[in-house]
Amino acid sequence: MAKTSLIAGLDVGSGKLTCIAASHDAETNTLQVRSGRSVPCKGIRGGMVSDIQETSAAVRHLLGSIERECNQEISNLFVGVRGAHLESFSNHGTYNISRLDKEITQADMNLAIENAKAMPIKNDNEIINVLTQGFSIDKQRGITNPEGMEGSLLEVDVHITTGSSTHINNLAKAIQRPGYKIDGTFYGLVPLADTVLTQEEKDIGALILDLGGETMSVGIYIDGILKFSRDIPYGCDLITSDLSRLLHTSRQNAKEIKEKYGVSFPTFLDEEGEIPVPSLDGRSTHNIKKSYVLDIIQPRVEELIEEVGKCVNASGYKDFPVVGVVTGGGSLMPGITDHCVNILGLKEVRRGIVQRDLITSDDEFFDPQYSTAMALTLYALDGASYEEYGGGNYEKHSSFFGKLGKWMKGVDIFGG
Ligand SMILES: Nc1ncnc2c1ncn2[C@@H]1O[C@H](COP(=O)(O)OP(=O)(O)O)[C@@H](O)[C@H]1O
Ligand SMILES: [Mg+2]
Repeated sequence: MAKTSLIAGLDVGSGKLTCIAASHDAETNTLQVRSGRSVPCKGIRGGMVSDIQETSAAVRHLLGSIERECNQEISNLFVGVRGAHLESFSNHGTYNISRLDKEITQADMNLAIENAKAMPIKNDNEIINVLTQGFSIDKQRGITNPEGMEGSLLEVDVHITTGSSTHINNLAKAIQRPGYKIDGTFYGLVPLADTVLTQEEKDIGALILDLGGETMSVGIYIDGILKFSRDIPYGCDLITSDLSRLLHTSRQNAKEIKEKYGVSFPTFLDEEGEIPVPSLDGRSTHNIKKSYVLDIIQPRVEELIEEVGKCVNASGYKDFPVVGVVTGGGSLMPGITDHCVNILGLKEVRRGIVQRDLITSDDEFFDPQYSTAMALTLYALDGASYEEYGGGNYEKHSSFFGKLGKWMKGVDIFGG
């Protein structure tokens, strides 16, 4: 049997890099996860490179160990970026088909998309990716792939993400230095939102919240379309800092206490009890009440979710999301969904991971910490399912995105 290609999704996160590697099984037409790993990386802060050497070393270590485990080289690498330098816009493009035959071609679709991309972009910023969210022909909406259909007026809705060229190029350098080639770069939230939310949630109006360590990413779907996406430059590591400061213990101990005993809502405080807290020098421990941990965590969580609320208010789509989905490591904090309901005024909020019917994997990777990396491999399956895949140019490879119910174009910023 011919070896199938190994596609990797690399999530550039908060002081760490997380990767999922998967292969496409042609028989079942599913993506199967073969390996996944996360490594700490001091050269990354809030998704942005602060030290190229450190980041390159972490990339080499992470991707090298994945390749050894799979006994195969990574064929295609897709990178998920984040950070406050990213900005997203929804836009609309039109194209008049003036030919006699009126049969819509790929070139017509590209021209409609080019028209949608014609918008002012800040100095030093560039387009990272363009998500095509659906076409309409002669005002009839909901067309995922118009190629071959007839019409006079072709319209398209797109979600465009721009980011700082400097940040993106530094990240590219760090990944390319150990010899890896990048086949596509995405704003991580976009594939994440697409694969975590159900179609029903996207249609009714949904908010996705990716709670990371140093960032919180917010996305809003209305009528099935991603209308808004934004990164807030701080996240759940602030809870760790509070615990570390107020319990006089190291950050590592504070992180362990948070993840093991932390709750953010009183109803989750099952029984009163005590928790051992190692001192800063590690030579002694003192005990504190569990309710004291809640008293530290709750106000910080409320403040974080209030910041999300401000971001939603400023988006112009305040009244649209009906339901919410929280993902990312911070979503594991008990009580977080209750705060989202109370503060954001959503009817229902659930915890989310990549939908299980989209990908086959050991349970260990169906964890919110792996969601973005997994979502990236799913977005990239298109590349892997083509033997002749050349990398970079998604325009040729629209079939998988068609299967996902959309047509997508990634702009290869590295000139692949
Ligand atoms: N069980 C848990 N309870 C509460 N917080 C958690 C838990 N597991 C992880 N976290 C927190 O989630 C954050 C990391 O989120 P993650 O999505 O893994 O990282 P990234 O910021 O790179 O996306 C950290 O603040 C971490 O402490
Ligand atoms: Mg995350």
